[in-house]
Amino acid sequence: MCDQHGCSGHGAAEGITHLEDSRFKVTEWRFAPGAKTGWHVHGHDYVIVPLTDGTLGLDHPDGSRTQAQLKHGIPYSRRTGVEHDVTNDGDVPLAFLEVEVVDDLLEQKRIAMIRRLNEGFNAHDVDAIMATMSEDCVFSPSVGAKAAAHRGQAAVKAAFASLLAGFKDAHWHEEHVSVRGDTGLSAWRFTATTLAGDAVDVQGTDIFAFEGELISLKDSYRKSAG
Ligand code: NI
Repeated sequence: MCDQHGCSGHGAAEGITHLEDSRFKVTEWRFAPGAKTGWHVHGHDYVIVPLTDGTLGLDHPDGSRTQAQLKHGIPYSRRTGVEHDVTNDGDVPLAFLEVEVVDDLLEQKRIAMIRRLNEGFNAHDVDAIMATMSEDCVFSPSVGAKAAAHRGQAAVKAAFASLLAGFKDAHWHEEHVSVRGDTGLSAWRFTATTLAGDAVDVQGTDIFAFEGELISLKDSYRKSAG
């Protein structure tokens, strides 16, 4: 629920946080008879698991009021954005667990790490690039044999330095970045000028793996020039 909980003074529902990690927040709410949550907007999808039977009074933003019967152990789910004030309409205490699905913080940090890597490339700053990669990182380039994958910070750093030294005005334009679980994906357009003066304009994709927040694999693919 939101920070407005408990703002209704006496008779407020009591919230106890049992678990809070990068994926879930679990709060037990206890209501004495007549106790209210206060008005709040749910910022996440959530599941309610009643710990008791009970009768909830629900005040809605349009001024209407409904009641809902809680059955011990029978869950229900709601989506982000629900707004209401909730009251224990019964004459005995009631309680439920609220399980919120929060943003995946590790995925957000990994997306930020891919963006930092891309910024390092666009700044032509090999040290900034390597700060996003793990000690045992692997870089598999988009050209050359698969066996040419570079392994470890020193070898990957040398490969990136060599790549950057092969072009003038090298720039990676971000078209898409996403992370799902342990796999990252970025799509980009690369524009540069070769040392011989030829323009390069190619689209490609990187597949990433991670060690914690750091990138452990950058596996690059590009559309063939034909
Ligand atoms: Ni609520």
